[in-house]
Amino acid sequence: MSITLQPATPASLDEVAEAVATWQQDGGPVQLHPGDLGWNWSLGTERLAEAIRVWRQNGQIRAVGLVEDAGLIRMAIAPSVDRDDAFASRLLADLSAGAPGVLPADKAVVEARAGTAFRELLAGSGWLADEPWTPLCRDLTDEVEDCGIRVEVVDAHNVRERVAVQRASFPNSTFTPERWRTMAAASPYRRARCLVGYDRHGEAIATVTVWSAGQGRPGLLEPLGVHRDHRGHGYGTATSLAAAAALQEMGSSSATVCTPSSNAGAVATYTSAGFQRLPDVTDFRRPS
Ligand SMILES: CC(C)(COP(=O)(O)OP(=O)(O)OC[C@H]1O[C@@H](n2cnc3c(N)ncnc32)[C@H](O)[C@@H]1OP(=O)(O)O)[C@@H](O)C(=O)NCCC(=O)NCCS
Repeated sequence: MSITLQPATPASLDEVAEAVATWQQDGGPVQLHPGDLGWNWSLGTERLAEAIRVWRQNGQIRAVGLVEDAGLIRMAIAPSVDRDDAFASRLLADLSAGAPGVLPADKAVVEARAGTAFRELLAGSGWLADEPWTPLCRDLTDEVEDCGIRVEVVDAHNVRERVAVQRASFPNSTFTPERWRTMAAASPYRRARCLVGYDRHGEAIATVTVWSAGQGRPGLLEPLGVHRDHRGHGYGTATSLAAAAALQEMGSSSATVCTPSSNAGAVATYTSAGFQRLPDVTDFRRPS
């Protein structure tokens, strides 16, 4: 059985995003989502393609890795190879020290929340538990309660507010209206929406982007932020509710999110918005 590893190309990104979308399943792990690709698309098509690795088995995409920062790869793995030991061995070999083209020799962290055989192999090969993450999930079968604040969908008229709130929420943010336009023009955004929440004075105080993976599949919140001057007033909860409602409208089966377990505020906020906290899951670090 032939397994190949290649970097993505700008022309293959739509196919890659679609493959990752089909792997999102209710009850499955909260793994790399087309929304993560969509969010990173704001950096530009060329740059995103350079950061993506694609494993194919007999020509079919079976795993996708997004290299973020030096030494961290975030994986999405097809359910069809969940227990495929040969496929898992190939992934491990490609991520091992000395293997060219994916991770540097001196630092390697792998986010692998799916792929039972691959996870077992990493653990059994001495890879160590790294940062813990908390997945959360809200089922969207029942109607989502009203969020209680005014929320608008972002387009040209309020993109500056969306960007300003992003920057006021994440101190290291480099988001710009230009980057928003790049993101909004890419294929994953065809089933996504950015929302901005306003306080009763009409000031933009919170933002979220919600990504559907298609009808009947789990959608993703990425990212959610409340302006640093407006925290602690329930806006995070309200915006998470608005996000869940938007995903429900788009046909998602559930709303999912994953946040570092150390981000107690985020875990509490999603829980307040009716998300169920799932067991923490750690990344894997290659032993030195
Ligand atoms: C996380 C964040 C969205 C929370 O927004 P917020 O408007 O302050 O949240 P809320 O006022 O709606 O609070 C919701 C709940 O979380 C709790 N909470 C909020 N911040 C908290 C903190 N730092 N530590 C512990 N609990 C916290 C509140 O007490 C509240 O709990 P309750 O409903 O049980 O009373 C905001 O702090 C933020 O934007 N942080 C930076 C970006 C980020 O981390 N985003 C999330 C990950 S992508």
